[in-house]
Amino acid sequence: MTTGSPQHDTPHHAQTVPVPAEFARHAHIGSRAAYDDLCAQAQADYPGYWAGLAREMVSWKQPFNQVLDESNAPFYRWFADGTLNVSYNCLDRHVEAGLGDKTAIIFEADDGTVTRHSYKQLLEKVSQLANALKAQGVQKGDRVVIYLPMSVEGVIAMQACARIGATHSVVFGGFSAQSLRDRVEDAGAVLIITADEQQRGGKSLPLKAIVDEALSLGGCDSVRRVIVYRRTGGKVAFDAGRDVWLHEVMAAESTTCEPEWVEAEHPLFLLYTSGSTGKPKGVQHCTGGYLLQAALTTKWTFDLKPDDIFWCTADIGWVTGHTYVAYGPLANGGTQIVFEGVPTFPDAARFWRMIEAHKVTIFYTAPTAIRALIKAAEITAEVHPRNFNLGSLRLLGTVGEPINPAAWDWYHREIGGGRCPIVDTFWQTETGGHMITPLPGAHALTPGSCTLPFPGIDAAVVDETGKEVPWGQGGVLVVRKPWPAMIRTIWGDPERFKKSYYPADLGGTFYLAGDGAIRDVETGYFTITGRIDDVLNVSGHRMGTMEIESALVSHPLVAEAAVVGRPDDLTGEAICAFVVLKRARPSGEEARKLAAELRNHVAQEIGPIAKPKDIRFGDNLPKTRSGKIMRRLLRVIAKGDAVTQDTSTLENPAILEQLAQAN
Ligand code: WTA
Repeated sequence: MTTGSPQHDTPHHAQTVPVPAEFARHAHIGSRAAYDDLCAQAQADYPGYWAGLAREMVSWKQPFNQVLDESNAPFYRWFADGTLNVSYNCLDRHVEAGLGDKTAIIFEADDGTVTRHSYKQLLEKVSQLANALKAQGVQKGDRVVIYLPMSVEGVIAMQACARIGATHSVVFGGFSAQSLRDRVEDAGAVLIITADEQQRGGKSLPLKAIVDEALSLGGCDSVRRVIVYRRTGGKVAFDAGRDVWLHEVMAAESTTCEPEWVEAEHPLFLLYTSGSTGKPKGVQHCTGGYLLQAALTTKWTFDLKPDDIFWCTADIGWVTGHTYVAYGPLANGGTQIVFEGVPTFPDAARFWRMIEAHKVTIFYTAPTAIRALIKAAEITAEVHPRNFNLGSLRLLGTVGEPINPAAWDWYHREIGGGRCPIVDTFWQTETGGHMITPLPGAHALTPGSCTLPFPGIDAAVVDETGKEVPWGQGGVLVVRKPWPAMIRTIWGDPERFKKSYYPADLGGTFYLAGDGAIRDVETGYFTITGRIDDVLNVSGHRMGTMEIESALVSHPLVAEAAVVGRPDDLTGEAICAFVVLKRARPSGEEARKLAAELRNHVAQEIGPIAKPKDIRFGDNLPKTRSGKIMRRLLRVIAKGDAVTQDTSTLENPAILEQLAQAN
C-alpha cells in the first residue's frame, strides 16, 4: 500500500471563499457553529444521533428499537428490527401529504422534448410496473437487472423493484454484452428490463440487441423474462417465449400496489464497480440506512428546499444516479430534471440552455464535463455560458474526481456568477452517499478541497499502521466508525468484502476507502490525492487496470499487457496500455491498425469507456528478476517523463528506452 502523493497540488486555505451571508441565512445548516454542534452530538452519542435522524427523515412501517449492531463486524447492521419501503418513502408519503400534483420529474429527451411527471403520476406508473413484475413471477429478494438509458422509465424501474422488495442491479448502458453477461450471471438475475434502443447525441444506439447477445453468451439461465421499453421504435428481435413490451405489461395492471414492507437490512440494490483485482464486484446496499443517508445528504449537502429545481447530470448506471436521481430527491419530495442526452448535443451549450429553460436552482455534475465545456466555450463563443441567463442557480456541486482549481474558478465565476457555493462531494459507490463535503451554509470553501466530513462521518487520514498522521502530512483515507449507508458486503463474496475494505494491517475496524488524502495544516480541510490502488479514474468513471489487461490479453494476438494511468487535462486520467504481441513488434501503419483493433476489442469486452487512449507495443515489459511488471516505471513513461528512478532491480533495462519511443 502506498500513501497519496504529498507533492500533490494541495489547495491552501488562503484561497478561501467565504459562505455568502444570504445563502447561510436560509440554509438548513446555516453556520459553522450549527455544523460543529451536529458533529458534537454524533460524538457524544453516535447511535442516538443517527437514530434521531432516521426517525425524522424516514417513515417506518414498524419503528426500529435496535440502532447499530456491531456483533458481527465488519458486517454492520443498522435499524435491523425496523421495517419500511423505499418507494413508499419516495412517493406515497408525499401524495398522502397533499403533494400529489407537485412535479417530481421534468424529463428532457435528447431531441429537446420535455415531459413532466407529478408525484401522483409517478406513483401510479411505479405501482403498475411493480404489479407487472409480480405478475412475471418476480419475488422479494429476486435480482432484476436494469439496462436502460437515462429516462423516467429507468427511475420507475428502480422504484418498482424497491416497491416489491426485489433487488435491482443497474448496468450502465455503455457496457458491452460481455460485461452485461458477467453482471447478470454474478447476480443470478431472474429478469432484465431494457429498451429497444437509446437515443444519445442525435444517434440511436442498440440496447435490446446487446441484451440478446449477452444472453446468447451463456451462463444466464436464471433469466426468465426480458421487459422492453419502446424508446425509439427501432426494429428489434423478439423472443416470443421470453420478451414482453413494457407498455403492454404495465397497461394490464392496476395503478395501485401495496408496498412490500421489508426489513431495514433487506438488499435494495447491487451495483458493480471496479476494484484493484479481478472482476468487478457487486457492491450490496441495504434499504433503511441507505435511504436515510440518501435523503439526509440530499437535504443538507444540496440544501434542498421545496421550491428548488434540482439537476444531477449523472446516469442511473452509476451510484450518483442512484442516490441523487432515483432516491435522494424523491425521498425529499423535490423536483428534479432527468436528462437523456449528452452535454455537447446539439452543441456544447446544452447544459446552460437547459438551466435557463427549466430555471434550475441546484446543479450537480462532474469535473470532466466542466473541463470539456470550458474548452468548448473557448473555441466557440456561441456556446459560452455568458450567453445564457443562469440567474436561477443558487448552488453548484461536483463529484467523481478531484476538481482542479482552474476548473473550480471557472465553474464558480461563469456558471455560479460568483454567488453560488460549490459543494465538492467526496464519496464512493461503497459509501452510498456523501462522506466528505461542504455544507454550503456552513463551510468556507477552498477550491480543490472537499472540506470536512458530513456530520456523523468519522473520516481520518492515517499511516500504514492505522495511526492518524498530523495535518499537512499525506496518508490513507479511512472511516473509523460504521455509517448507515455503507456497503453491506460484496454480493456472494463476503471474504473479499472484508479483505478489500477492512484490512488487518489497519486493525480490521477501519474502512479503507482506497484513496490517499491530506488535511490542511490550519483548517483541517481534506484534499483527496487520488487512488492508492490499481483503480483508474477516467472522466469520473472507475476502471480497474486488471480488467482492461484481461480484456487485452483475451485478444488472440496479445501475449501480455500492462495498463497504467497518466494525467489528462480533460479526462483527469487517461488509460495507457503497454502491449507485447505473440508476433514481432509492429511499427508504423501496422502498429496503428493493430492499436485500433485492440481498442475496439476492449470496447467489445468491457465497453467504449474502457478503450485505452494510448497503446504502445514493445518486445517485452519492464520486469524485476522475479518477473513482476514494474508499473511505476510504466507510469513515468506513459507521462512522457524521463525515468530517473532506481532501475537496478530491473531484469531488462533496455526495454524502457524502446517503450518510451514507441507509440
Ligand atoms: C473518486 C463516485 C476527489 C475517488 C461517487 C473515489 C473523488 C472514487 C471525489 C469513487 C471528489 C469521488 N474528489 N475524488 N469529490 N468523488 N472521487 O465509486 O477516487 O464511481 O474513491 O463513486 O472517485 O468512485 P465511484
